[in-house]
Amino acid sequence: MQLSDSRTFSNPIIYLQVSTLNEEISRRRTFAIISHPDAGKTTLTEKLLLFGGAIHVAGAVKSNKIKKTATSDWMEIEKQRGISVATSVMGFNYGDYKINILDTPGHQDFAEDTYRTLTAVDSVIIVVDVAKGVEMQTRKLMEVCRMRNTPVIIFVNKLDREGRDPFETLDELEAELKINVRPLSWPINIGAKFKGVYNIYEHSLDLFTPNKTKVTERVEIDDISDPRVEEAVGEADAEKLREDLELIEGVYPEFDVQEYLAGRLAPVFFGSALNTFGVKELLDCFVEIAPAPKPVEAVERTVSPEEEAFSGFVFKIHANMDPNHRSCIAFVKICSGKFERNANYKQVRTGKTMKFAAPTAFMAQKKSVVDEAYPGDIVGIPDNGNFKIGDTITSGELVHFKGLPSFSPEMFKYIENTDPMKSKQLDKGIQQLMDEGVAQLFTNQFNGRKIIGTVGQLQFEVIQYRLLHEYGAQCRWEPISLYKACWIESDDQEALAAFKKRKHQFMATDREGRDVFLADSNYVLTMAQNDFPKIRFHFSSEF
Ligand code: G4P
Repeated sequence: MQLSDSRTFSNPIIYLQVSTLNEEISRRRTFAIISHPDAGKTTLTEKLLLFGGAIHVAGAVKSNKIKKTATSDWMEIEKQRGISVATSVMGFNYGDYKINILDTPGHQDFAEDTYRTLTAVDSVIIVVDVAKGVEMQTRKLMEVCRMRNTPVIIFVNKLDREGRDPFETLDELEAELKINVRPLSWPINIGAKFKGVYNIYEHSLDLFTPNKTKVTERVEIDDISDPRVEEAVGEADAEKLREDLELIEGVYPEFDVQEYLAGRLAPVFFGSALNTFGVKELLDCFVEIAPAPKPVEAVERTVSPEEEAFSGFVFKIHANMDPNHRSCIAFVKICSGKFERNANYKQVRTGKTMKFAAPTAFMAQKKSVVDEAYPGDIVGIPDNGNFKIGDTITSGELVHFKGLPSFSPEMFKYIENTDPMKSKQLDKGIQQLMDEGVAQLFTNQFNGRKIIGTVGQLQFEVIQYRLLHEYGAQCRWEPISLYKACWIESDDQEALAAFKKRKHQFMATDREGRDVFLADSNYVLTMAQNDFPKIRFHFSSEF
């Protein structure tokens, strides 16, 4: 059998499988919505699910925000963890597309979780509040996107509220997120006078009705000089819109989808998630331009989604709520081939062959056992301690996927055992929580003390609580004043030895046994970098 692309298959069944695989890949869009808390991520997610028919009433998606005030309310945290399992991945069909939204924790103390989730998506939608502009967490998350060249679409939300001038917003997005922007829709006024948006991408005028359930009224306009623009928004606003559009065409180059796919240009949409306004336009453009699953870098080679052999990696491990069964769910992103229930797969790190009898897929907000899944999909695998974050699973090939770095933590504490009878339980608990990626463990080479590094205070509280409730172990925290932990290496073994000797009190090892320098201030770190030019200092574990 001769195919048009000159591949030859003797068996038509194989061809059929290959074409199904390719079709399944090209219709998948796996992405995350990121924002600073309160910008409207939950609201937007919900509206996208409504369009996909995945839910039928507003209010069905619960925010997984853990409010700072609730830090001592453990039931609240446990409840939140339950919600976030349910909403970790939300899959739905939209037209010919299969969309997977990966949820990211709302609380900044869980930023490390979000970084890892970003390794499992092919693109990102950033939500920005028109009044608040770019906020701290969005800036940080954008850095991770930039490192990975992840394509980004920006949704400027809450146009029904008073906010900044849209040109000012665009300038700020460009400066703060360090990416070129290109508006694909344009608002007609903001706040109380908000009348709608002109959809530059589709040449239509979408009129705003301040009503949470009513969807946009649309006027198709081929030419912006059409007098129907006046009819719709009045003379003054029509004139202003034309001027704005002229300015946009003059200032911003044509939208180039390749630039977007390369992660260099972010198209910008304006709307109001709460009013379901501008959301469908965003979704329609998103499915058209956002990338299908891309090849994934492994240490050994690049793995293409179209390859027949299955491969995937664990990017998240979620502990179950039931403390009596310490079971977890490992979230596996499928990178290539078809995943099948009960097939034999290899866990590359341990070399074990495994069969998964009850993998779950996530459709809408439901989990259900799935027989097969394709690149871009996420499957949840019930696990009782077999997996670590970053593990690769394959049909047999020994490949190791890259791109799940740990970042230098921002907070550090010594962890001390307060119940000597339970030291085994404590060790086991710490190991498993670290496997789950809750925090990072360093062991001081000088005094052997264990140091836990996190990105936020909340993790220390979660660790202490979970050690007690899930492992029966008690711990206490002792302060340690550290600025950063950085991984060090050098081609010059003598220089490395000299550094370690000089800094012996500040040397630690990570869980893989790699050397980590614990700098207690920025000054000390800078001095060390100046004094030891042959040493390379890394701020993420992947180098
Ligand atoms: P997050 O997940 O990014 O943290 O934000 P979330 O969607 O929970 O939205 C934060 C608040 O902003 C919510 O109000 C939500 O209703 C509101 N909001 C979202 N989109 C819009 C919009 O387009 N316009 C306006 N005016 N408000 C919007 P809340 O009072 O905190 O919660 P709720 O009681 O309304 O649920």
